Amino acid sequence: LPGPDVEALTGDDVVRLLPQAGVESDKYRRGVVGIAAGSDRYTGAAVLSVGGAVRAGAGMVRFVSSAEPVRYVRARWPEAVTTVLRDGAESSDASQASQAQGSDGSDDPLREVGRVQAWVLGPGLGTDARAHALARAVLAEDVPVLVDADGLSLVAGDRALLRRTAPTLLTPHAGELSRLLGVPRAEIEAGRLEHVRRAAAELGATVLLKGSTTVIAENGHPVRANTTGTPWLATGGTGDVLSGIAGALLAGGLSCYDAAACAAYLHGLAGRDAAGGGPDGRGRAPIAALDVALALPAAI
Ligand code: APR
Ligand code: MG
Repeated sequence: LPGPDVEALTGDDVVRLLPQAGVESDKYRRGVVGIAAGSDRYTGAAVLSVGGAVRAGAGMVRFVSSAEPVRYVRARWPEAVTTVLRDGAESSDASQASQAQGSDGSDDPLREVGRVQAWVLGPGLGTDARAHALARAVLAEDVPVLVDADGLSLVAGDRALLRRTAPTLLTPHAGELSRLLGVPRAEIEAGRLEHVRRAAAELGATVLLKGSTTVIAENGHPVRANTTGTPWLATGGTGDVLSGIAGALLAGGLSCYDAAACAAYLHGLAGRDAAGGGPDGRGRAPIAALDVALALPAAI
């Protein structure tokens, strides 16, 4: 890891930073995380993000999306409290979950979601008008927001979405950061530290750049690098799990900088455990993204 201004968290750091459970714990104090993710085309991303949050210890997960992803999330994670966004074609699902539009016609998509302490926005969300409206509503909330995947595409096309008072955590891979900065992907890959720092400065957000080494930048802090992962994590959907983990930690009261670093650390460790250790400790067998979520409690 080149550069004097780069540090790595240790396991002891993570244990110290993680919220601890105690007799005074209740689900609201542990943290309520809202997740706005998924679309008819991408139901899995929503299931994986919710799974990351549930298994990372969120006090409660509130999930908001259209009917199809809500159906999948409810089937896999009965722990989540769901809200179906109102959308003409989907209103036949009214018996399954509450509708997000009041009888007064108010069209705040978050109206019936209830209080949340941090939001995750973007995995599998799509980039259509419905997704854009939901992104606008979530980013207008005065709580920390993690933006990933399609949420990052929406932000790249409408930077005004990032003008907010509460903290923002962006979690791009190199391709997504390329679109955010308008810099070719090859340049990002050739200078990951430089570009993650530049993104934090330009976008006024904490930025977690994913990869075999994940790097995290926030203005005024050293870059943090995480190497707990395994190449077995290079499989579709593991990034969606990461978004849920970090969202749960944000809702638990960690700063964007600490939530990002702890989430990357635990995600990497859970990936290795799921892949079965092996001679170099990095795993000996393929994993599915959901395995990473399931391995989280043991990793923690
Ligand atoms: N070694 C260690 N970790 C790795 C490696 C590697 N070689 N390759 C990938 N990872 C980790 C990354 O650090 C990250 O945590 O796996 C995760 C991959 O996350 P994403 O790049 O977001 O991939 P994915 O989950 O498939 O994203 C789903 O959303 O971001 C969009 O375009 C993306 O369609 C895709 C979808
Ligand atoms: Mg992704």
